[in-house]
Formats: sequence, C-alpha cells, structure tokens
Amino acid sequence: GKVAVLLGGTSAEREVSLVTGDRIYAALVRSGVDCRMIDPADDLMGQLEAWQPDRAFIALHGRGGEDGTVQGLLESMGIPYQGSGVLASALAMDKYRTKLLWQAVGLPTPDFRLVETPDMLECCSDLLPVFVKPSLEGSSVGIARVDREQDLLPAFEKASQHNSSVLVEQFIDGPEYTVGILNGEALPVIRIEAQNEFYDYEAKYLSDDTGYLLPSGLSKTREQEMQAIALTAFETIGCSGWGRVDFMADQRGRFWLLEVNTIPGMTEHSLVPMAAKAVGLDFDALVLEVLKSSLS
Ligand code: DAL
Ligand code: MG
Repeated sequence: GKVAVLLGGTSAEREVSLVTGDRIYAALVRSGVDCRMIDPADDLMGQLEAWQPDRAFIALHGRGGEDGTVQGLLESMGIPYQGSGVLASALAMDKYRTKLLWQAVGLPTPDFRLVETPDMLECCSDLLPVFVKPSLEGSSVGIARVDREQDLLPAFEKASQHNSSVLVEQFIDGPEYTVGILNGEALPVIRIEAQNEFYDYEAKYLSDDTGYLLPSGLSKTREQEMQAIALTAFETIGCSGWGRVDFMADQRGRFWLLEVNTIPGMTEHSLVPMAAKAVGLDFDALVLEVLKSSLS
C-alpha cells in the first residue's frame, strides 16, 4: 500500500524532523515501498485527502506531530500510523505530567516543579542545581542548567519563550543513558558522553565529539534493571510500538527517568538506529519494523 511519510511541521524541531523524515523516506524507497513525503506545515488534511495513503509514517518531532494532534487527525480519517496513540503521545510531550504519572507509580524521576510565572521561581531554590526546560519541547530546545538562584529568572524567561509552562527539574550529576524501545521490547542501553555542559542541541545533532558508548559499560544486571524501568515507564504513559526513554544516573549509580520520546530521532546522529544496529537491524530493516507496527 501507499505510505505517507509525514515530516517537517512547524515545531522547534522542524529541522530535525526533516532529516528524520528524509532518511525514513529514502529507506522506504530502497525497500520498494510506494511512498510520498507530506509536510503538515501545508494543509495536511488536503494532502492526505488528495493522495489517499493506506498508512502514515509519522516522522514529526515536537508539538503538532509528536503530541497526539496528528495522530488524532489520522484516526479521524481512518489512516493507520505507527507508534503511540493520541493519549500517550500527548502525555509524553508534556514532561511535567509524564513525571507526575511516574511519581505516582513509584518510578524514579528527579524532583521537579512546574513554573508558570516568575514569582513561582522562589519555591525552586531548594532544588538547585537544576535544569530549566520548556515543559512541551524536545531536542533540548530552550533548556538551561542553573546553579545559582539569580540565574533562575533568565533561564525561566528563555524557556518560556517556547511554552508558558516551564519545568524546573533537579540536576542529576552523572552520565546520561538512553533505552530505545522497538515492538514493545527494550534495545541495548547507550551511554552518552557529551563534551558540552550537557547533551544539548549542538551535542545531539551538530557535534562529532559526542561519545556514544554501546555497550554502555554497565553490568548485564544493571542494564537489565534500566531496561525494565524503561519498559515500565513506557507502559505507564500508555505508549506503544517504539520510542526512546532517557535517563540520568547519579553518583551512587541510581537511575533517574527524564522523559520518553514517542517519535525518536532517526538522524545520522540518533540513538535508536545505533541501538537497533547493535541487535543486527540496519536502518532500512528498522524502518520496516517500525512501519509494520502501524498495522497492529
Ligand atoms: N526529540 C528528538 C528528536 C529525539 O528524541 O530524538
Ligand atoms: Mg525529547
């Protein structure tokens, strides 16, 4: 059948999505799939009605694509798509409500506050050092690390340019890890070693100096522990199919959940393709595997 690859969109992660979508499109073409690239920035419904695809591969990151809105439109139009549904996509886009749910089921996530106005920053000093993040954004867009009380306000102002809801989250001083999920199963753990202050946009997509450790250096037991937390975290949000769960570890070796991405990046620098390769799935095979899940 015909597959519409949805890419681009209007979020702050548009550029990343264009790369993710291009690579997915190229992989589908190589596999002989009849596909077309569709950018929701320009009359998504009209384009879908005109071409009548049998399925969609959503390669959008951020709001207006990864957040349940496009998923809802596709459901209304009866077009199957891969990955998480409307509710899980919307929840996963909202870091604050994701963390509330994880906390409620006893999963480890760094302490946090939601800040909507500058005067609410007062109650954040006890959390320092912190990360200040827009609550509804990906790829580290608008994120700052803050060590001193007087730097909270500028960081809040920067983050709130993206969303009015800003998450202030306790900083965990240890390495970052990630666990990809494919067909409801955890892929091997990757440890990330950013040369920048943290794994920011530049370290994610531009730098060739970011180190990726796979195998991660953790013992088998510890890897399994992290993978089990990742799966529980994924299921708690109601996610399905594929995704990626991001972690920090602290100095005592405890794992802390940061967020779940329901449409993980598929760029040359991205983590899920790396993890899939380690279990023998090259990029094209990975894309077909993810596409298959649109029918289940
Ligand atoms: N939000 C980016 C694309 C990722 O999670 O890979
Ligand atoms: Mg993200």
